[in-house]
Amino acid sequence: MVVDFGAQYAQLIARRVREAQVYSEVVPHDTPVEEMLRRDPAAIVLSGGPASVYAEDAPQVDAELFRAGVPVLGICYGFQAMTRALGGTVEHTGTREFGRTELAVCSGGGTLHQELPVNHPVWMSHGDSVSKAPEGFRVIAETDDTPVAAFENPESGLAGVQYHPEVAHSPHGQEVLRRFLHDIAGIRPNWTTTSIVDETVTAVRERIGGARAICGLSGGVDSAVAGALVNRAIGDRLTCVFVDHGLLRSGERTQVERDFVAATGARLVVIDAVQQFTDALAGVTDPEEKRKIIGREFIRTFERAARELKEEAGQAGEQVEYLVQGTLYPDVVESGGGSGTANIKSHHNVGGLPEDLRFDLVEPLRSLFKDEVRRVGLELGLPETIVHRQPFPGPGLAIRIIGEVTPRRLETLRAADAIAREELTASGLDRDIWQCPVVLLADVQSVGVQGDGRTYGHPVVLRPVSSEDAMTADWTRLPYEVLERISTRITNEVADVNRVTVDVTSKPPGTIEWE
Ligand code: XMP
Repeated sequence: MVVDFGAQYAQLIARRVREAQVYSEVVPHDTPVEEMLRRDPAAIVLSGGPASVYAEDAPQVDAELFRAGVPVLGICYGFQAMTRALGGTVEHTGTREFGRTELAVCSGGGTLHQELPVNHPVWMSHGDSVSKAPEGFRVIAETDDTPVAAFENPESGLAGVQYHPEVAHSPHGQEVLRRFLHDIAGIRPNWTTTSIVDETVTAVRERIGGARAICGLSGGVDSAVAGALVNRAIGDRLTCVFVDHGLLRSGERTQVERDFVAATGARLVVIDAVQQFTDALAGVTDPEEKRKIIGREFIRTFERAARELKEEAGQAGEQVEYLVQGTLYPDVVESGGGSGTANIKSHHNVGGLPEDLRFDLVEPLRSLFKDEVRRVGLELGLPETIVHRQPFPGPGLAIRIIGEVTPRRLETLRAADAIAREELTASGLDRDIWQCPVVLLADVQSVGVQGDGRTYGHPVVLRPVSSEDAMTADWTRLPYEVLERISTRITNEVADVNRVTVDVTSKPPGTIEWE
């Protein structure tokens, strides 16, 4: 159990714990101790946090937590809060340590630093410092500015570190976490991709029983893995629905029809709604209006499919009761539902489906992080092309055509986008970039010359970005040779386009998509 003291690091700690093959969940720091213990954690990690233990409203740790016999590791703020609760001293020394700091292990380094170099770098970020460890604790590391940089009391299963073992800038941090989890807390490392698949499949099977379920596939990773897992659990009592709205990229429909089905054997219904969306979008240029229309038409189409399935099942004396969604753990934590029980907002990742659709939700990925979802996908046999797919927005190419969406413009953009993707893949850059939208400036025309003749065509914009989570992004410095190949091919091969430009704006101030 990772207790979140409000730092951005709590989820990262939870991921690192899982990398040590131990299942973890995040709970807010104001969760009562009885509630924490009721959930029977094998160990507890107290995260860092932005507060000073001296601040008036500083979150505290109830000393009861340390008397329950559950091993606890305090990190940064958690280390200081633990110190205070156990009678040690935290001082506002005025010395701040921020960033890479040399750690010197002492007293043999204790269990936490066993076999680590005596001096090694760690990542620090703190103003207050522990000046005296609580009674019974051994100081096991120090730095030039911090006399107590780590302590432990292995007999009682308690330990703490001032530095952040969870960040990549602490190169031995993962070993320290492993020592705590495996050696001090004695937890067996058995959270593996195979065990995730087995446990989830069993849970889904129990939940759905003999009923039927429906899953909206978007072509993205999450819905594909969710669908594959539920398919493994209930076979053809699951129907996957894929709406082709005509705003897809080249090859996407085929990828779902062929690759997803080949890998999973799932029952798939593809709904051809191209004409419906084309008609609904005719004459519309405003980005928000486009998004609203697409959302509305998507829901209508999905509802129709769901109704038809229900009727079909009803005739066979069965019921479709469940809707599968690809909600991930970070969404659950961020909507305050870290405990996995109360006040969990349902995130809709298939176009915001309405309440009155009357399905119970099945969210097989709700305890998983994105990297685990990808591993589960591979374990289930999904191809790399699906599992490592870059993000693509629900409204598709419609929000990458600046101006009215018409079949001809879609065809132009689809062709330019396919070339950009081919070249980026061929240069081995797919994993380095987050995504690279190609945008068609359909209402802009400029003069060009091709084959001795004048052209009056449209520009396309390449928007390569690097990002961790799409909340912020930087533009990616693509090699000139790659840009050159993309530019030459697009202007040669795509009619209507006579200029290729690159967007060099970060986010903020730009967004990733243009609309
Ligand atoms: P922006 O443009 O807001 O995009 O910087 C951030 C990320 O979200 C994707 N995106 C969407 N994904 N439905 C989606 O499923 C949408 O309506 C949508 N709009 C943007 C975008 O591709 C980027 O990864």
